[in-house]
Amino acid sequence: MQVRPLQVSDYGRISPVMNEWWGGQSVRQLLPRLFFEHFALTSFVIAEGDEIKAFLVGFVSPSIPGVAYIHFVGVAPASRTLGYGRRLYAHFFEAVAAKGCAEVRCITSPMNLGSIGFHERMGFRIVSNDGKLNGIPMTLNYAGEGQHRTQFSKQLDKRSTVT
Ligand SMILES: CC(C)(COP(=O)(O)OP(=O)(O)OC[C@H]1O[C@@H](n2cnc3c(N)ncnc32)[C@H](O)[C@@H]1OP(=O)(O)O)[C@@H](O)C(=O)NCCC(=O)NCCS
Repeated sequence: MQVRPLQVSDYGRISPVMNEWWGGQSVRQLLPRLFFEHFALTSFVIAEGDEIKAFLVGFVSPSIPGVAYIHFVGVAPASRTLGYGRRLYAHFFEAVAAKGCAEVRCITSPMNLGSIGFHERMGFRIVSNDGKLNGIPMTLNYAGEGQHRTQFSKQLDKRSTVT
């Protein structure tokens, strides 16, 4: 299965499965259709025919030069630990490096230990430093009162790019 660019038509396949893929959390409203319309050139999927196995939605920051941001990555529960997440990240790193980016950022919940472990394996370092939850550094109230988040950063260079 090849990595291909995200398409607007993928919205109808990805949005309905997101809450299930995120363990029953209500996350689908965080990825509205506009991302599929406006960030398709830096967003990718792995699909088998019409069936989406994994997706990544990211973009080049319009306001911070040289920085790209990964907004969402999800792999179908039955397709995890097969390397799809790694492949999507490698593809994104290559795409945004070609657009002049030297750094990739993202955030996750400090309670999402799977996401934290995955991002550490992808070479990200935690840049949050004003609070901790069960030993995981986080940025307090990042997404509003009581909504703490763990912020990640990865420098892109030939040695650290995931391949
Ligand atoms: C996190 C997620 C994207 C990982 O995707 P994946 O395709 O299973 O990951 P890969 O198989 O490419 O694994 C890449 C590396 O990360 C590690 N990894 C993957 N899932 C992990 C986990 N839950 N805990 C710790 N490490 C993990 C793998 O061991 C692998 O390391 P290695 O290559 O050095 O052995 C997937 O579990 C997922 O969709 N989770 C639910 C949605 C989510 O939380 N998304 C992230 C926040 S937006």
